Amino acid sequence: MIERVVRFDKVVSTQDKAKELIGERHPIAVTALSQEKGRGRQGRNWYSPEGGMYVSLLLFPKARVTSIPLLASLTVIRTLEHYGFSTLSIHWPNDVLLKKRKVCGVVCERYQDAVVCGVGLNVNIDKFLPRLHSATSLKIETGKAFDIDEILEVFLVKFNDLYDELQSKGLKVKEVLNYISGLGEPVEVVTARGVVQGTVYDIDDDWALLLRDESGIIKKYYYGDVRRLQW
Ligand code: BTN
Repeated sequence: MIERVVRFDKVVSTQDKAKELIGERHPIAVTALSQEKGRGRQGRNWYSPEGGMYVSLLLFPKARVTSIPLLASLTVIRTLEHYGFSTLSIHWPNDVLLKKRKVCGVVCERYQDAVVCGVGLNVNIDKFLPRLHSATSLKIETGKAFDIDEILEVFLVKFNDLYDELQSKGLKVKEVLNYISGLGEPVEVVTARGVVQGTVYDIDDDWALLLRDESGIIKKYYYGDVRRLQW
């Protein structure tokens, strides 16, 4: 259970700051107002000006490590529902979409015996660089600004609840399936070993993507990027 929040104004990346605190041996949340080099998945940058919620959770999970990214996405969904948002979905593995536009990204990194789970939520960002044309923020969607500290507080309470549940008995993954976008749709999965095309068949209990490839074989992926071949 995360009980301590360490706050910074500007950092290179909250992921690195969280790793520096591993010696504390307790779960900690590290947050900053902005990041100079926010990291996304697969070596991408995460646009991190003031106006976003940037938090890295330093965790020492005893079990079910592969479900942690999902847990963070689900927590973001519950947090946004708390604020009255709907039309939320999860683009596997862990992008949260609001009206089909990316509002949040999650990246998890193993570090010694810990997992550092980073969450970037676009809260009060007014506009994005042209290359981030599919991104949105809570402010863009509603025309009003939100209290980022308060959102973080709601997020951490909900995360702690789900994390306890995950560690003690596993997630009720079927609930999560309600939010998955793209079931049955043609996609390509980009992994370190290449690109595979198929249709999204299901999400397994351990949060792996089950893809039916062109020859009908079901393949299981834990990591990768899913690109839709049609919307
Ligand atoms: C992605 O969609 O590729 C994941 C983006 C994760 C960004 C967050 S912001 C807080 C934490 N610090 C980082 O440098 N990255 C994560």
